[in-house]
Formats: sequence, C-alpha cells, structure tokens
Amino acid sequence: MSSPVLEAPVLEAQNLSKFFGQVISLNDVSLTASAGQVTCVLGDNGAGKSTLIKILAGFHQPDKGMLLIDGQEHPFRSPHDARKAGIAVVYQDLAMQPLMPVWRNFFLGEEPRRRIGPFRFLDRAKARRICREEMAKMGINVRSVDQPVGNLSGGERQSIATARAVYFGARLIILDEPTSALGVRQSGVVLKYVLRARDEGLAVIFITHNPAHAIMVGDHFVLLNRGKCIGDYAAGTVSEEELIHQMAGGAELAKLRTELLVGGATDRQQSDKIGSAPG
Ligand SMILES: Nc1ncnc2c1ncn2[C@@H]1O[C@H](COP(=O)(O)OP(=O)(O)OP(=O)(O)O)[C@@H](O)[C@H]1O
Ligand SMILES: [Mg+2]
Repeated sequence: MSSPVLEAPVLEAQNLSKFFGQVISLNDVSLTASAGQVTCVLGDNGAGKSTLIKILAGFHQPDKGMLLIDGQEHPFRSPHDARKAGIAVVYQDLAMQPLMPVWRNFFLGEEPRRRIGPFRFLDRAKARRICREEMAKMGINVRSVDQPVGNLSGGERQSIATARAVYFGARLIILDEPTSALGVRQSGVVLKYVLRARDEGLAVIFITHNPAHAIMVGDHFVLLNRGKCIGDYAAGTVSEEELIHQMAGGAELAKLRTELLVGGATDRQQSDKIGSAPG
C-alpha cells in the first residue's frame, strides 16, 4: 500500500466521455490509479470497460474529459504515447507464439544482443537469465524458460505478459478481464501476481466481471453501468454482496427474476398442453 504522503496518482482520468455516432459508450467517467494500489473496474457486458481501457491505452481519444499523468495533463494521441508514459495493457487474447519458448515470448523481438566485431548476436544466456529472474520476482516459477508457451496455462501466460511489462518499465498495468476464462486455481495464480505487481509499487487497473475476485485484491472499486460510473468505493466500505447487487442493477435484477418466474410458468403451462394433446 502507498504511504499517506500526498503524491499525485500515476494516472488520473477526469470526466471521460466517448460517443460512437448515437451510442454513448462512456459518459462522464473518472478514475485514478496510484502507485502500490489496485483499482478494480467492474461492470456487466456493454458497460464501457473496454472503451475505457482503449482510451487509457491511447487507442481511442475521448470526446470529452482529460487524462493526467503524475498530476499533469497528458493527452495520448496514440498507443505509443501511452506506452511512453509507462502504461501497459495485458489483453486476454495475448499476442504470444505458442511454439516458441517462454523466454522468447518474454522478449518478443526485444532480446538482449551482444556484439562480436561488426555482428550483433542474440544473447540467449542473458535473455534466459533475465526472464527467469523477472518471473521469479513476480512469484512465478515455470518449470523451465525453454518450454514452449503452448504448454502453459492461461494464468501462467498472463503472468509472463505482466512480468514482461514490468521489466520494460511499465508503471501502470491494466489487466483486461484476466480471470474471466480461468478456473479457480488459475484465477488464484493471476490474483497473486496482481498483488505482487502492487507490492512492487506498480499501479494496477484490474478489469473484471467478478466481484469475488475484485474484493480479494482491490483498494478501490469503480462500478460502470451502461457507460456511466454508478459508484466508486474504497476497500472496506463495500461488501461483495453490495457490489453484486449494484452491478446487476438491483431493481433490474428483481424485474428479471419476476419475468423469468412468470415466463417459466407460462412456458411450462404451454408444454403441458402440448404434452397432453391427443396424438
Ligand atoms: N467502435 C465502436 N463503435 C460503436 N459502438 C461501440 C464501439 N465500441 C464500443 N461500442 C459500444 O459501446 C458500448 C460499451 O462497449 P464496451 O465494449 O466498452 O463494453 P464492455 O464493458 O467492455 O463489455 P464486455 O464486458 O462485453 O466486453 C456498447 O454498447 C458497444 O456496443
Ligand atoms: Mg469488453
């Protein structure tokens, strides 16, 4: 956790809005990500989570609002600008080469080289060592950095991408639904390295549908619904049940339950009639 010293957040998004024609994808959303803290962004399908990340990663420019880095206004014109500011996004469908070993995937074209006369050679020994060390720092112990990435689980692959981002100087890591396709044990792996990244002093934004995962790692929780922020809570001020209730949109959930019960009863009556028709 960060000290109570008044230090500007690594990233601050103020009143972001994004429109696609008639569709309002994001409507006046603000959030902060501070060093040594995990900011969870929760929301159902279509809530605007991906739109928000794409703005923070420089893929989209907001129609309204602004971004600040270390307290200074800092617009991103491209993903390159965001990367230069130290923002790394780990996407769920990671761009990895399954047949290549772990260490090659860790460097992905940015391997260390050594010079012999006029020639530059890949420094394999150094690359393997750095990869092993950086993964260990994140608490990840793969059997061997020489095994192909295709042999690893989804959680382990995500962890390589995170260790890589840290090594190449990221200060803010955005994880886009890293646990949504994973089982309980593998989700545990991911949640552990989220905390490890936080303890290394990084700012982490963790996007998820899953309030149970969020509550285990989050320092604060930003809830999105249909493009709007419907709540921003500090850890300890909100329960998992409250997050679930808010995400489902409380009243909407009650309405859905009634509809399903009534609809279910009607369907059963229909099928009873069909079943009892003389044949
Ligand atoms: N490029 C685009 N053009 C038009 N509409 C878009 C575009 N991108 C997003 N939208 C719309 O904006 C809304 C928010 O989408 P977004 O992808 O940000 O939601 P999400 O929270 O990431 O959802 P999911 O959990 O399903 O990934 C949706 O209604 C979507 O259809
Ligand atoms: Mg999305």
